[in-house]
Amino acid sequence: MKNAIFLLIVIVSCISTGYSNAQSMSAKKILIVYLSRTNNTKAIAEIIHKDVGGRLVALELQKPYPENYRAIVQQVVDENASGYLPTLKTKIDSIQKYDVIFIGFPTWDMQLPPPIKSFLHQYNLNGKTVIPFNTNAGYGVGSGFQTVKELCPDSKVLKGFSIKGGIEREGVLFVMKGDKEKEAQKEVRKWLQQIKVIE
Ligand SMILES: Cc1cc2nc3c(=O)[nH]c(=O)nc-3n(C[C@H](O)[C@H](O)[C@H](O)COP(=O)(O)O)c2cc1C
Repeated sequence: MKNAIFLLIVIVSCISTGYSNAQSMSAKKILIVYLSRTNNTKAIAEIIHKDVGGRLVALELQKPYPENYRAIVQQVVDENASGYLPTLKTKIDSIQKYDVIFIGFPTWDMQLPPPIKSFLHQYNLNGKTVIPFNTNAGYGVGSGFQTVKELCPDSKVLKGFSIKGGIEREGVLFVMKGDKEKEAQKEVRKWLQQIKVIE
């Protein structure tokens, strides 16, 4: 009888482990943090949010960047050169309660934007799963994903997602609508399945 009960416990725990692996992500506390100037990265963040839930937070700066495109480009180039970390206005209370942190950003100067560097310097993400995502003007993520890995040495950084967004230099701002939005929804879902965040 004892043996039979033991066997039953083993069988039930094996089944439930398999089950809980499939279910585990939904049980985890998810935070989706993003930086977005012309709302393309915001649109991707919202698609992810619809698929995985959790808390969605837009990063804002104490001192916003200039509206003018040439001026912001110059400022970002200067900040990257000097290693300046802009102060964030957004405060995230009790970051320690989150298990999974999605981090979204546009490519700026082929790098991780300074405000995201600020975020990763300010908050300790040790032991957490970090999942980066990106939009860009067609030149790719640049060194962005690599820098996320370097700034989160004790996190589990999963494969990032990158998609073409706007081309502000050419006056093309928000593009995540109509067919493009549908394509983005499909691509995001495919990626989330690939990294096993959804089934
Ligand atoms: C300051 C600045 C620098 C940029 N640098 C690049 C770049 O180096 N490579 C690139 O592909 N796109 C670059 N872009 C374009 C953005 O990555 C692209 O438009 C992105 O989709 C914007 O995202 P958002 O709408 O969330 O702000 C830059 C945009 C800005 C404002």
